[in-house]
Amino acid sequence: MMHKMKCIGVLTSGGDAPGMNAALRAVTRTAIFNKLQVKAIYRGYKGLITGEIVSFQTQSVSNIIQQGGTIIKTARCPEFHTSEGRKKAYENLLKEGIDGLVVIGGDGTFTGARYFSQEYDIPVVGIPGTIDNDLYGTDYTLGYDTALNTIIQAVDKIRDTASSHDRLFVVEVMGRDAGFLALYGAIASGAEAAIIPEIITETNQLDELIQNGFRKTKNSSIVLVSESDIIGGAMTVAERLKEKGYDPRVSILGYIQRGGSPSALDRILASRMGVAAVDALMDGQRSIMIGIVNNEITYVPFTKAIKDEKALDKYLFDVLRLLSI
Ligand code: F6P
Repeated sequence: MMHKMKCIGVLTSGGDAPGMNAALRAVTRTAIFNKLQVKAIYRGYKGLITGEIVSFQTQSVSNIIQQGGTIIKTARCPEFHTSEGRKKAYENLLKEGIDGLVVIGGDGTFTGARYFSQEYDIPVVGIPGTIDNDLYGTDYTLGYDTALNTIIQAVDKIRDTASSHDRLFVVEVMGRDAGFLALYGAIASGAEAAIIPEIITETNQLDELIQNGFRKTKNSSIVLVSESDIIGGAMTVAERLKEKGYDPRVSILGYIQRGGSPSALDRILASRMGVAAVDALMDGQRSIMIGIVNNEITYVPFTKAIKDEKALDKYLFDVLRLLSI
């Protein structure tokens, strides 16, 4: 059924990511420009269930494009995984007169959104917001570029110590089970290697590096390691290096990667995706994620965005290997 939208709800959910505020601003202003009401739902699905919902005006999103995090808060909400939780959420949408929803988040957010829009007559459009960049159907997710820039700034600093002391550093980065931050971060920071879950099952990268005596030509080295359980993180890698006679230092970058002012790329992406999300709702689209592929906006069914695996360009792994000789 085609909806004549009157009021759009917007929420941010899952891990915060730089650019979420810029997307919230774009959604709010595009909706108001099109004479729609906007209601912000605080704390993600949690606020939808508890009814923490506030009307937004254009000024509600003033001066936030440059802020990291999310001014409407975020949460991971197990209750939304239950049909009782989703029923409460729908009742609140009806009460508030919200007839279309924009959800900004990652795969957990879209999994919830998919069930919700299947069970109830509510169109939902997603904007990918996660530093992990692990969603199928989009070249970039909001926050990924900013997190990458944070990583290279940190690694640049660590390199000063690594080279001054002739040391080997193992630096752990986020990404859950995706190696985008580790691989791209390694290329961009000139690291000697990246240990990522997508490759570890094919080649034992660490053994390969050790066998090749990866410090033969260098006095200091930096290895970026994905936090993934498949690898065991930086501590596991460092233990294995110690067994082989190395004396590595470990640095776990942690939450500094999630915060901070969004990069220009993330702000522009958020602005484009926010406009596209409201347009999509007004066009009668439902259960889709806005993506960007080759700099063009795309519309990806939630089912595909969540279930299909986003391939990491393994050629870049060869680029890293080649440039670290
Ligand atoms: O999805 C973003 C992310 O920062 C992952 O890289 C990380 O594994 C996870 O969130 C941590 O989540 P939380 O802060 O909820 O523990």
